[in-house]
Amino acid sequence: MSSIALPVFLVCNYLVNPLGVQDAHPRLAWQLSEADGRRGVAQSAYEIRVSTRPDGPADLWDSGRIEGDATTQVPYGGRPVPSRTRAYWQVTSWDEHGQPATSPAGAAFWETGPLSRAEWKAQWIGAPWHGSGHTGSPAPYLRRAFKLAKAPVSARLYITALGLYEAYINGKRVGDDHFTPGWTDMRKRVQYQAYDVTAMLGSGDNVIGAILGDGWYCGNVAAQGRQVYGDRPKLFAQLEVAYADGSREVVVSDASWQLAGGPILEDDLLMGESYDAGQELAGWLGPNPSSGEWQPARVFADPGIELSPMLSEPVRAHEEISPVAAPRREAGWGNDAFIFDFGQNLVGNVTLSIKAAAGTTLTLRYAEMLDASGGLYLDNLRSARATDQYTCRGDPAGETWTPRFTFHGFRYAEVRGIPHGAELGAGALVAHVLHSDLPRTGEFSCSDPLINQLQHNIQWSQRGNYLEVPTDCPQRDERLGWTGDAQAFIRTGAWNREVAPFFNKWQRDIADAQMPSGAEPAVIPAIDLVPGDGGPAWADAAVICPWTVYECYGDRALIERHFDALGRYVAYIGTQSKDDIRLHPDLDKWGGFGDWLALDGSGQVDGGTPKDLIATAFYVYDARLMASMARAIGRADDAARYDALAARVTKAFQRRFVTGDGLVAGNTQTSYVLALQFDLVPDELRPKLADELVRDIRRRGNKLSTGFVGTPYLLHVLAREGRLDVAYSLLEQQQWPSWLYAVTQGATTIWERWDGWTKEKGFQDKGMNSFNHYAYGAVGDWLYEVVAGIDLDPLRPGYKHILLQPQPGGGLTSARGTHLSPYGEIVSDWRSSDGAFDWSVTVPPNTAATARFPVPAGAEIREGASPLAGSPGVTGIRTERGEVTCELVSGSYRFSATWPKAATAGDRAAGSP
Ligand code: BGC
Repeated sequence: MSSIALPVFLVCNYLVNPLGVQDAHPRLAWQLSEADGRRGVAQSAYEIRVSTRPDGPADLWDSGRIEGDATTQVPYGGRPVPSRTRAYWQVTSWDEHGQPATSPAGAAFWETGPLSRAEWKAQWIGAPWHGSGHTGSPAPYLRRAFKLAKAPVSARLYITALGLYEAYINGKRVGDDHFTPGWTDMRKRVQYQAYDVTAMLGSGDNVIGAILGDGWYCGNVAAQGRQVYGDRPKLFAQLEVAYADGSREVVVSDASWQLAGGPILEDDLLMGESYDAGQELAGWLGPNPSSGEWQPARVFADPGIELSPMLSEPVRAHEEISPVAAPRREAGWGNDAFIFDFGQNLVGNVTLSIKAAAGTTLTLRYAEMLDASGGLYLDNLRSARATDQYTCRGDPAGETWTPRFTFHGFRYAEVRGIPHGAELGAGALVAHVLHSDLPRTGEFSCSDPLINQLQHNIQWSQRGNYLEVPTDCPQRDERLGWTGDAQAFIRTGAWNREVAPFFNKWQRDIADAQMPSGAEPAVIPAIDLVPGDGGPAWADAAVICPWTVYECYGDRALIERHFDALGRYVAYIGTQSKDDIRLHPDLDKWGGFGDWLALDGSGQVDGGTPKDLIATAFYVYDARLMASMARAIGRADDAARYDALAARVTKAFQRRFVTGDGLVAGNTQTSYVLALQFDLVPDELRPKLADELVRDIRRRGNKLSTGFVGTPYLLHVLAREGRLDVAYSLLEQQQWPSWLYAVTQGATTIWERWDGWTKEKGFQDKGMNSFNHYAYGAVGDWLYEVVAGIDLDPLRPGYKHILLQPQPGGGLTSARGTHLSPYGEIVSDWRSSDGAFDWSVTVPPNTAATARFPVPAGAEIREGASPLAGSPGVTGIRTERGEVTCELVSGSYRFSATWPKAATAGDRAAGSP
């Protein structure tokens, strides 16, 4: 008897046991355990039971037995869950043999937060002081002592701030989240957090406290300056306590709280934080603070914005990184500096450990690179001061400090102000990596160490730039939700991490940013510094991102929620078009950012590809995605309407930009790439366009010239057009411009520009030269999809049906990709040599795969010890376009193929069958 496929990894709206859920129909998901490697594990039916008690009857919902294999995106269909109620859920899943298995009682739940505004009794409180447009002010410390009659059986803290907060109860930090409540357009919406604080409270005296930081609300945002959303930080907190007898008590932020300024003299995400340990507020989290000038907190009017629950995990601290070597001393005039190298360009903060006299002030600065003299290269930070300051209290036992309300993008940190003769050891500074806490879902590796480093760099740029919103860069005075960068990278991002909740949240920001005209801006959350239509390939992120989340996770609800808004966006594009050419030159409009940072222009940052061509290509793409999304949510009429629009705009594109013999206007790599990627030309012209593209690459010595727009599709197009050899030659190119050039120069993240630093020219223009910008890392999806050979089937999204089809090439002799899909882990792991191809794959439970072998026709293929035909779980073996293809049920397989040495996999891969 086969072992049981248990429902495991139960999640609600992608999250494990979320608190503060507001959604009336949250979506539930589970996976089936692998059942000891049995092949063909699948679900035949399920039943969900939801209860207000851990082991109680299904008083909220009993779905009854539902035939079918749905294990993801299953909407809750029970009674409305009352406000602030925990809904425990359990699922019984019947496998392919009709054998049931049930998840444990009481383990999985979601909990509603306050469901209406009337349930919030808190008031906004803060300090009477505030900074100006140029300078910050001391961080407010807020506290309230209160008594509880008994120990509570349950307590929740619902809390948010305009600005940032760190909350404490009885001296202990609440949660371990950073930069809460996160970043939204705070003119419209602020997120709140919900914490289970039952264990932190006791009967008798209790103290709740919070420190407020400026954050995005009133600190610097990009180059727009301070106070973008408001003048000072404010706290809004509601502590709800329940006793065994059913009675409740509530402590809210209001005029009864006490306020003082403390050791944080100033804090700013871009500029850094200044802390004077001599001004610490002794005992401020206890019943009687022994220092500080405490006064009543000031109460502020309710701004009337939306209070929204979190849809994604907050920023958290991940690994700690120690310097790779002892710090280097730089002798100074009055005192010395030490430069620490963490060996990795990272995003986060540091902990400083020091023993020094009271009043000693240390200055910490951060940089991604060193300059020619070995000092910190700071020019590319522009106006971001990225400087922390710490003044010692003079503790003879030593003291440690970690800034709270700032982060930096850096590999190097410098500590200045060390008295002559004093030493700073490597242990004086440790770095903490901060980013949105998205589970890791993918790994790629292969036989080329440089490509492995490229993958490492992609993952690190993703980590550093998925911080609350998808940003362009983490270090200079920018750090914005640049839409173009986000859409270019999202597909790669979704391989490496579970990005669905993060992009559900960002799509809410996109909706908040939409203008009455339907237009979307270039950066989201919107700020006045970058107003108006974001332009082609940037604002189109509004359509591309939800589609990608649907493809990768099957998230229909995201589309349903936003479809009409996206329709208004596409209608807006219509108003920006003439004769179906978007941004037709006659309209005399701003044309967008072009193929940003492409190297084929006349020295301009926006490249040589005509802007109306890019615009119209993305108009077609948007229309096609709208049609696909309409089909996904059962809106057939809309699908037909968008299909017709796509067909019409495609015709317009051809008329205006494509000649009869296959030249595309602009004659740039990106022009050909877009025409081919978005299927904008008749089939018979495709080979001609591909020839032109290859000709340009060859003319440049096997080099690319594409910018942010063309680069993500370049290798895909080449592979699809039968030019895998050219694709690999670009991937393996080590001279700039190329992906591996930066790798050969020691990069540990993806650079903003192909030539951010070159041996010939040194640093590029300091005005725009980030060394941690993920856009060019968008090549990552090609590594998983084509090199490792794992892909999805958009008709059965979320990896319900998997395509396994590696295309070995170049000098690679092996590659391995893994991806933790909504159904479990997918693996494709191959090794090739002359006349042999070994391939291990894993197809997760409750899915199926189509596998295509990159081996010549006639190769002998075995699975384990048996021939392919007749192996359990393998069906539908056929030869398609000279390649062997078969169907697989879930399970793990070890294939080996051999063939006479004359026809090698490399030859086949090079397009000569
Ligand atoms: C950002 C980008 C962004 C661009 C717009 C830059 O300053 O860093 O990555 O997409 O502006 O073209």
